[in-house]
Amino acid sequence: MKLKDKVAVITGGGRGIGRAYALGFAKEGAKVVIAEIVLENAQAVAAEIEDEGGAAIAVKTDVSKEKDTREMARLAIEKFGGIDILVNNAAIYYGIGMKPFHVISEEEWDRMMAVNVKGGWMCTKAVVPQMQSQGSGKIINVASGTFFAGLPMMLHYVTSKGAAIAMTRALARELGAFGINVNCISPGFTMSEASKDMPGIPPGFTEQLVSMQCIKRPEQPNDLVGTAVFLASDKSDWITGQTLEVDGGFILW
Ligand SMILES: NC(=O)c1ccc[n+]([C@@H]2O[C@H](COP(=O)([O-])OP(=O)(O)OC[C@H]3O[C@@H](n4cnc5c(N)ncnc54)[C@H](O)[C@@H]3O)[C@@H](O)[C@H]2O)c1
Repeated sequence: MKLKDKVAVITGGGRGIGRAYALGFAKEGAKVVIAEIVLENAQAVAAEIEDEGGAAIAVKTDVSKEKDTREMARLAIEKFGGIDILVNNAAIYYGIGMKPFHVISEEEWDRMMAVNVKGGWMCTKAVVPQMQSQGSGKIINVASGTFFAGLPMMLHYVTSKGAAIAMTRALARELGAFGINVNCISPGFTMSEASKDMPGIPPGFTEQLVSMQCIKRPEQPNDLVGTAVFLASDKSDWITGQTLEVDGGFILW
């Protein structure tokens, strides 16, 4: 087991890719804190983990609210005695659709930044004191291939995912001296519920993206789990500040 007895906080772990991280981390022996705005979803995932003999708690958390993120960290420590891993997976993605930049409202823009950008910062701020006291920690941010591709028609989302990469690089420099690694996963277009139901996607969009990948099949949430486990484990102790494209070879450098 690669994460035996590690305590992992996974934000947005109630469905989709976050759920896959939560289940995958639990299989590797981690005790999982599912910090999620939709509490019922988090509870369902925690119950799945417990049914398999693992340990998990569900915590209702809006990552854009400092009070919530502090409580998330407090409960993780109270229940499991520490925090070793944070996966900043929560984001506004479901339902955003595709539309020109000038049609995005100020409210949509502000909420996107509050959750996708400020949220990652808030959660990091909440867990870092504990990681510092332990002398180690792994923080995994989540970007998106849309940033590297410069995908049009989702400007607020793509901008927020660029910020996840910026935060990864600058925080890796600030936190390395405390034994804390900060890395980032950049998924390709992944067949979560949110992608499958995305409004405004042109016909043939998935097929077109798959044709541009080296590996010719649609990406699934479980395709991301191995990389996340690696970045959360001691096997990646000498890697920090990096963004890994986990996308079947869609973005190549
Ligand atoms: N699916 C894809 O194609 C794809 C591609 C690249 C990156 N990503 C990223 O991967 C992550 C997961 O994507 P997904 O497809 O599972 O999307 P999703 O929208 O289904 O999952 C997001 C999760 O975050 C939760 N959430 C939303 N706002 C929150 C808040 N304020 N506080 C706490 N939780 C909140 C949601 O309830 C949900 O459980 C996101 O960061 C997304 O941007 C997804």
